Amino acid sequence: KKAPSRKGSMADLPHDLMQEIKRLEDLFVVDTNKLKAISDHFVSELEKGLTKEGGDIPMNPTWCMGFPTGYETGTFLALDMGGTNLRVCEINLPEEKGEFDIIQSKYRMPEELKTGNADELWGYIADCLQQFIEYHHEGEKLDKLPLGFTFSYPATQEYIDHGVLQRWTKGFDIDGVEGKDVVPPFEKALEERGVPIKLTALINDTTGTMIASAYTDSEMRMGCIFGTGCNAAYMETCGNIPKLAHMGLNPDDQMAINCEWGAFDNEHKILPRTQYDVIIDKESPRPGQQTFEKMIAGLYLGELFRLVLVDLHEQPQVKFFEGADISPLKKPYSLDASFLSDIENDPYENLQETHDIFVNQMGIKPTRPELELLRRLAEVIGTRAARLSACGVAAICKKKNLKTAHVGADGSVFNKYPHFKARGAQALKEILDWETGRDGKPLGKGHDPVEILPAEDGSGVGAALIAALTLKRVQEGHH
Ligand code: GLC
Repeated sequence: KKAPSRKGSMADLPHDLMQEIKRLEDLFVVDTNKLKAISDHFVSELEKGLTKEGGDIPMNPTWCMGFPTGYETGTFLALDMGGTNLRVCEINLPEEKGEFDIIQSKYRMPEELKTGNADELWGYIADCLQQFIEYHHEGEKLDKLPLGFTFSYPATQEYIDHGVLQRWTKGFDIDGVEGKDVVPPFEKALEERGVPIKLTALINDTTGTMIASAYTDSEMRMGCIFGTGCNAAYMETCGNIPKLAHMGLNPDDQMAINCEWGAFDNEHKILPRTQYDVIIDKESPRPGQQTFEKMIAGLYLGELFRLVLVDLHEQPQVKFFEGADISPLKKPYSLDASFLSDIENDPYENLQETHDIFVNQMGIKPTRPELELLRRLAEVIGTRAARLSACGVAAICKKKNLKTAHVGADGSVFNKYPHFKARGAQALKEILDWETGRDGKPLGKGHDPVEILPAEDGSGVGAALIAALTLKRVQEGHH
């Protein structure tokens, strides 16, 4: 299903649009050398984040200390506070290795909550948990159920059932939560409602993804989320975490690190930021934060696209959406990543779908040359996201000196955005200079030395496994 060559038609484009496409390509295309330079700098930033002084990347210790054996057992609740949904699961890890039962309910995460206040947030979440318990355990007398809470924001953890929110990311902006331990107000809301739940582990989605994937694949070394936000976790040797030196941990023990790599290059030393990236940052609730994430994550892809279109329309020397009323396009965050997915999925010959979306959603009727620009713009934005993401994966491989590995990945961009996987794999190959696969066979699916694979359910099974591992550690006398 290869797109037909577009050379013929491109040449027919009006000169000003050709020029603009060229300009956009220069802005958004990241070549191999740049990818390599970025990932080298990334390695040094990962190192820096593990020191006492720290750097841009938080490198948060998670107190998830080791991979599952596959023999974890018990019944656990898992709560996932994602961007769009709130999901509650009950997972039963039975004696039988690798098999598990799961029941789950999804609740809408009201948009107003994301910028509301803390009491409303915890109250709403506790209500959902209460509803879940009442529905699935009606009339039962319950002991407190252990819960793994997937809270996918940067948190400082001194132990696993504790976490001080460093800052909101992904457009959240709820007052009175940053800088505080999120567990006490959460537990208070549960207590007030008499919900029989005990928080056992507060985890990040990336850590959950890594652990859930490692449950079924012993080659898993990393968990990544390419979704609304973008981030990764990997397992580090405690002896290599200088900022934990004072804790007296066994240097050979393992500790999952939630990198929070979205904050990479907050110092603006290396990433090829465009004027549009600068605007996204300025207009966001946390300017100066999450520089890397704002260039690659799902929340921002549609917005980047939108900002370019508005800019093209406003340039006097470019005829773009000429004479059209573009007011619907002027609304911030009115286009999401699925909008770009649809454009990239549209057969190139007609770009009919792209045409229809613009007509129906925005009342703008693009010409054929404009459709071609729209398509090319979606491609360069989507490709940049995949290639820059690969720099992070490559950096962890270099840092850990991994010659081969499986990487578990989840998130809407990874799962749904067209060509994201292939573009990421291509970039990894360029950065890590592979000539043949791990088995000496030609590169490609199943042969690349480092492969990014669809993960198991991190915020469900992963959270349950981490809760199980935590209870086991407690029983063994660790704190
Ligand atoms: C943001 C959050 C991070 C999370 C990621 C993916 O980067 O800060 O904690 O892992 O989004 O959801």
